Amino acid sequence: MSVLDRIGQKLLFSFDPETAHGLSIAALRCGLPVGAMAPRDARLKINLCGLDFPNPLGMAAGYDKNAEVPDALLALGFGFAEVGTITPLPQPGNPKPRIFRLTADEAVINRLGFNNEGHVAAEKRLAARKGRPGIVGVNIGANKDSADRVGDYERGVARFAAYASYLTVNISSPNTPGLRNMQAREQLGELLSRVMAARAAAAAQPPVFLKIAPDLVEAELEDIAAEVVEKKIDGVIVCNTTLARTGLRSGGVANETGGLSGKPLFERSTAVLARMRKLLGPQMAIIGVGGVDSTETALEKIRAGADLVQLYTGMIYAGPALPGRIVAGMARFVERERLKSIGELRDTGCTDWSKRL
Ligand SMILES: Cc1cc2nc3c(=O)[nH]c(=O)nc-3n(C[C@H](O)[C@H](O)[C@H](O)COP(=O)(O)O)c2cc1C
Repeated sequence: MSVLDRIGQKLLFSFDPETAHGLSIAALRCGLPVGAMAPRDARLKINLCGLDFPNPLGMAAGYDKNAEVPDALLALGFGFAEVGTITPLPQPGNPKPRIFRLTADEAVINRLGFNNEGHVAAEKRLAARKGRPGIVGVNIGANKDSADRVGDYERGVARFAAYASYLTVNISSPNTPGLRNMQAREQLGELLSRVMAARAAAAAQPPVFLKIAPDLVEAELEDIAAEVVEKKIDGVIVCNTTLARTGLRSGGVANETGGLSGKPLFERSTAVLARMRKLLGPQMAIIGVGGVDSTETALEKIRAGADLVQLYTGMIYAGPALPGRIVAGMARFVERERLKSIGELRDTGCTDWSKRL
């Protein structure tokens, strides 16, 4: 980390996590030059589901919930940015405080509960950037008090198909009561059928990805894989935050309710990713997320079976220069290993990782 980054991080850490987040969004919105240049290297390009990603590293959902700064995120060096989760109606989320830093673990616990400004506000912003280059995915969810949660996802598809490079169906947040139950086979089958029908009826048909939780046992992973294949979903994002609290150094704050992200999630999320690659086969698109904070951890996700990688918590601890640094490290890696494409690395550690589950 540079001296400037260290000062920036110290300053942000002097605020509570949610205020710090708001300040970082404001800085990006103002166009402050907070990032580092990422190299454009043809060997880092990934073609997936008909999309040309300039590099395999993306910003995960939850940072830019209201689609305020996707282009500024791309300018930091990310090859793609995922906005959301966006629900049909605006909702305030859970009472504050609801984000906690576990500094000793380089982790975060959040129980935000899909606080967001709703479909209409996000659509306005996405419509204003329509036609601009850059891959921007839209992550859709259901309102907490919705009487028809599946309908909320259908509405998300109908609303954002025209603006999204891809859509993510997020049923894996632990902070909306009952949401994760939609991962159970029967409910999932119904949800995915209706989502795919909504996409077929839309004017544009972006790829649809399903984002899953890390807290699933083998039988549940098998059910999800079967439904994903049967309903012809384009890809899977592995994974969201965890309810597990194993191996943490941080004291009291580790007992806060919510989803844990960051370094302690890396091992489990990478093992689940490898297991999903085994279950889904080589053709399915998989995005690996959880605990990525360096070039090495990003490459490890690809070895385990990921086509693309995302991060969030890593940037809270390392600052906005992180994506540029990781991408630069990837470029050095393909040069050193004489790879024609970073995609050659995929699955080379899949068997090993899948056994760690
Ligand atoms: C503060 C915070 C808010 C999040 N909000 C969302 C969200 O709205 N939708 C979603 O799909 N994932 C959300 N996530 C999960 C991340 O996208 C990611 O899956 C998870 O944090 C693991 O990656 P990481 O260890 O790199 O942070 C959020 C994570 C954090 C830390």
